[in-house]
Amino acid sequence: MEKKNQNNVKLGKDVKIFDFTNLYGCSIDDNTKVGTFVEIQKNATVGKNCKISSHTFICEGVHIEDNVFIGHNVTFTNDKYPRATNPDGSMQSEQDWHVVETFVKKGASIGSSATIICGVTIGEHAIVGAGAVVTKDVPAGATVAGVPARIIKKK
Ligand SMILES: CC(C)(COP(=O)(O)OP(=O)(O)OC[C@H]1O[C@@H](n2cnc3c(N)ncnc32)[C@H](O)[C@@H]1OP(=O)(O)O)[C@@H](O)C(=O)NCCC(=O)NCCS
Repeated sequence: MEKKNQNNVKLGKDVKIFDFTNLYGCSIDDNTKVGTFVEIQKNATVGKNCKISSHTFICEGVHIEDNVFIGHNVTFTNDKYPRATNPDGSMQSEQDWHVVETFVKKGASIGSSATIICGVTIGEHAIVGAGAVVTKDVPAGATVAGVPARIIKKK
């Protein structure tokens, strides 16, 4: 039977969650470690044997496969053109925008303080350099770095 806590988080076996995290409505699979001050929102999925380092933000619509390393202070996004309000001045609610999904494939690594613009796929075993802003898909096995992120090493 699947295990869920009071924030409706689905946890696999031996998941290690450090203090001061904010996790709700997400799923985290076996053996994964979640560092302090991490937020993982509803409908985000994290696979097995992942390391999610402290201060990282994983929003709704992000799907992280097994064996992925996420550095410190990594920011995912899920709305390419965010607005606080509608043209009529009313506050935007969930009905006024849609989540754009992002995929991080098996064995990929994302360096500290990288920002991932939504809608991309980071390929298997790819590496994203520290501080990169990823705006396009990253091919499997490639290393990307910089703002915007460019390939510095192919597979
Ligand atoms: C991207 C990375 C994997 C590249 O490592 P590498 O393949 O050994 O590359 P090199 O150090 O040989 O650098 C190659 C070039 O890319 C540049 N570069 C390396 N990392 C970069 C980065 N994060 N952002 C921008 N440029 C970078 C180097 O300055 C060098 O440029 P040059 O050829 O003009 O001199 C590594 O630098 C990195 O950012 N790792 C992530 C570290 C991290 O965040 N760990 C998290 C847990 S502690």
